[in-house]
Amino acid sequence: MAQSKLWTAAPEWAVYAVGLVPAADLFVRAFSNALGADPLRILENGLGEWALRFLILGLAVTPLMRLARINLVKYRRALGLVAFIYVVLHLGVYLVLDKQFFWGEIGADIVKRPYITIGMAAFVLLVPLAVTSNRLSIRKMGAAGWRKLHRLVYPAVLFGAVHYLLLVKAWPPEPIIYLVIVVGLLALRFVKPARRARGGSPGLAREAVRQ
Ligand code: HEM
Repeated sequence: MAQSKLWTAAPEWAVYAVGLVPAADLFVRAFSNALGADPLRILENGLGEWALRFLILGLAVTPLMRLARINLVKYRRALGLVAFIYVVLHLGVYLVLDKQFFWGEIGADIVKRPYITIGMAAFVLLVPLAVTSNRLSIRKMGAAGWRKLHRLVYPAVLFGAVHYLLLVKAWPPEPIIYLVIVVGLLALRFVKPARRARGGSPGLAREAVRQ
């Protein structure tokens, strides 16, 4: 179908190329003193926000296919890995530039600051997903086991959104909007797929079953 071909015309690597532009932009501006009065905070927060955006995009792939018949499954692994790269960069900035490897302070943050605890939990949940995001792991684990493990992405994204909500002092709209989107996308997973019209794409149905 011409419409579905249009959605998947770009190669998978384009997701990495385009997805990492904001990271490059943030780092270039941070190291050329173009991020304002508190560059570290802007860099740290910017990377965290992009991490959450890409996690959400990855989470949207299945509902988009089931409910709107837009098949972006081809890009899901790249979206997940780009999200993970942002999480690692975000964590890296926290460890290296923010805390400068003061492990005592880092440990105290993890124990005493709920938003750091939950952010760390999200990171820990995402590590096995990133490590097994390849064909060899799917073959070794079997499709069912691999799918089961990759359900960890649901609590991970939820933790990421809650982490954002917990760290703000007042009630700005952004973290609430992100949390509503995440909860909405998770809830959509319980909505039954739309009935296939006669003569609809069997490939699409097969993909939906695989999710
Ligand atoms: C899935 C994992 C994570 C996601 C999605 C995420 C996302 C975010 C977001 C959206 C922000 C706020 C951005 C803004 O205010 O515009 C943020 C801030 C922050 N995150 Fe994370 N984060 C994650 C994991 C972590 C981890 C593992 C740590 C460290 C252990 C961490 C430490 C921080 C810190 C220190 C801030 C800045 C707080 C401040 O402004 O003082 N995050 N994160």
